[in-house]
Amino acid sequence: MAESKQINEPLIYQCKISLKGLIPPIWRKVQVAGDIPLDKFHRVLQTVMGWGNYHSYRFIIEGITYGPSAEADPTLSDAAEVSLSQVSQTEGSKFIYIYDLADDWQHVVKIERILPPQPGVQYPICLAGQRACPPEECGGIWEYTNLLEIFKNPRHPEHREMIEQFGGDFDPEAFDLGRVNRALQPIRGTKIRSKAVNDTPPAWSEADSKLYQEIAAVAVPAREEQIAALLTLLPFNPAEPFRAVEVGCGEGFLAHALLDCFAQAQLVALDGSEEMRLQTARRLSAFGERVTVEPFDLFAGDWLAHVEGADCVVSSLVLHHLDDAEKQQLFAAIGERLSPRGVFLIADLIQPPRPEAGELFAAAWDRSAEAQALAQTGSKRLFEQFAQIGWNYYRFPDPMDKPSPLFEQLTWLKAAGFVVVDCFWLQAGHAIYGGYKASAGSATGGVSFTAALRSAQAALQAR
Ligand SMILES: C[S@@+](CC[C@H](N)C(=O)[O-])C[C@H]1O[C@@H](n2cnc3c(N)ncnc32)[C@H](O)[C@@H]1O
Repeated sequence: MAESKQINEPLIYQCKISLKGLIPPIWRKVQVAGDIPLDKFHRVLQTVMGWGNYHSYRFIIEGITYGPSAEADPTLSDAAEVSLSQVSQTEGSKFIYIYDLADDWQHVVKIERILPPQPGVQYPICLAGQRACPPEECGGIWEYTNLLEIFKNPRHPEHREMIEQFGGDFDPEAFDLGRVNRALQPIRGTKIRSKAVNDTPPAWSEADSKLYQEIAAVAVPAREEQIAALLTLLPFNPAEPFRAVEVGCGEGFLAHALLDCFAQAQLVALDGSEEMRLQTARRLSAFGERVTVEPFDLFAGDWLAHVEGADCVVSSLVLHHLDDAEKQQLFAAIGERLSPRGVFLIADLIQPPRPEAGELFAAAWDRSAEAQALAQTGSKRLFEQFAQIGWNYYRFPDPMDKPSPLFEQLTWLKAAGFVVVDCFWLQAGHAIYGGYKASAGSATGGVSFTAALRSAQAALQAR
């Protein structure tokens, strides 16, 4: 295996990627760490070529076909299980990468050089390239060649229709190296990490916080509705005092909506990211002493002191960083500490119990992100970013994310002493579930969904 002599310093593979059969050629030159798994290398190829990652892919290397394990095809080897350096160890060797099995875009990947990493260089990096990759869904190599002729000829009977379909601003000669490297930035800092690249367990970083802030509005399905649902499920009257803890408050949108909706609530908002805490503290400053924003480490137990005697714990998109056993322990610790009227509500990814459910979650999440991008910005750009960085866990499992099956989590909540336990909302693999310690809620009723939605909207708009 071609690995560096220095521990934890994989050799760098310089690859030239060319779309097969096209003249003039469409190509890119990239450098990546040799220990990158092939499924992550696929994401790098998508980003540097400019594809949208809408379709499946294959690597054909020395007669073996690699692809996504989720496809459960017995003829396919799992692309997540092998690294580039395991399948290709010689300078000058070539293999095929196919994107979109219908349009059959075949790329020749040539390993030009294998070299030591350069100090200060962040990989993957794109060194050069020429020409734009063809528009998605244009039909494949022959149709694309035909399309270029139609674009060039305003008198062609299909000229107008094709311009409308594939965009008047498409320039086949365009290639912007700076833009490609900016698009690689999130891949470098965050989701591309894998156990193979780094032996320490992957953890949330400040770069992840920045990236999440950029894409959360489209990446979180029905965010406004989720916040409103969490508030509606709280068993407290809007005028009733209670003490709440939010675990992993992020930018503080849920915290803002909760304090707005429940005028007597006190809240401790916890987050491990300084960037997130700054945003939350700024956003919640108007609530004065009703809220404190504190650092915490999800994997340490000390923050549970805040839950002692509290009436409510809420958490959104955080607890999936804990594995099954850690979740189980946390549920028990929260169950023990909450007051007798206490409630624990979680909004989070859940592990699909079957591959078919995983496919549904993946597709529904993509659809939701695409629709939200179009509705909010009139463009697909944020959806494309979501796709390129592989945020959809159900398509791109990441060692940092460990969602557990919903059914198991409900049983752990029951075992932790919650009397009423259920799932209350589910969309695109994102569920809202939790447990109540008492069977009856506030005698005077909770907050209406309409009022909760108003508070959620106000919080999300107060940026
Ligand atoms: C996906 S964001 C969700 C933020 C927010 N709750 C929301 O729904 O928008 C995950 C949050 O959990 C925090 N986080 C992740 N891992 C953590 C850890 N080990 N300790 C403390 N905070 C952590 C991050 O800083 C981030 O704010």
